[in-house]
Amino acid sequence: MEIRSMTIEDYDEIFSMWQITSKRALTGADSKENIEKYLLRNEGMSQVAVENGRIVGTVLAGHDGRRGFIHHMAVLPEYRRKHIGHKLAVEAIRKIAADGIEKTHIFCYQDNLTGQNFWTSLGFEKRGDLFVYSIKG
Ligand SMILES: CC(C)(COP(=O)(O)OP(=O)(O)OC[C@H]1O[C@@H](n2cnc3c(N)ncnc32)[C@H](O)[C@@H]1OP(=O)(O)O)[C@@H](O)C(=O)NCCC(=O)NCCS
Repeated sequence: MEIRSMTIEDYDEIFSMWQITSKRALTGADSKENIEKYLLRNEGMSQVAVENGRIVGTVLAGHDGRRGFIHHMAVLPEYRRKHIGHKLAVEAIRKIAADGIEKTHIFCYQDNLTGQNFWTSLGFEKRGDLFVYSIKG
């Protein structure tokens, strides 16, 4: 299994993978055009896991110059519990930290217990003192 930086040429494969792993989190922000902009803004930070030529895991990673953010952390169901997600997340955090960013945040649905266990296992602290507020426009 290889971990390497995501490129826009991976888009069709990762987008079909996200239909299986991450459907609820997919939005217009995940169009090919937007992902291309994201990868350019955060060069080399997003990662894919490749097994026998097939992309089996993804993580989008970037920062705003102040804090890091991770999105679309996902592993195909038949490849789970082999620490592929762990390796992808560690690499994403390493790349963000290498840019001088000292803290990285993730968003996790409250009913996603697998996600919560996963982030806790990596040492992420669940914040009880914050709500996420969002606005369109
Ligand atoms: C979350 C996800 C990426 C984890 O990927 P993975 O490769 O299976 O995770 P890992 O094998 O690296 O697991 C690392 C640790 O996380 C925890 N963990 C992972 N999956 C777990 C589960 N189903 N139940 C309990 N703990 C779990 C364990 O502590 C595990 O270590 P262990 O196997 O030695 O006990 C994967 O389940 C997934 O794609 N889920 C759907 C998308 C999603 O919910 N992403 C997170 C969004 S916030």
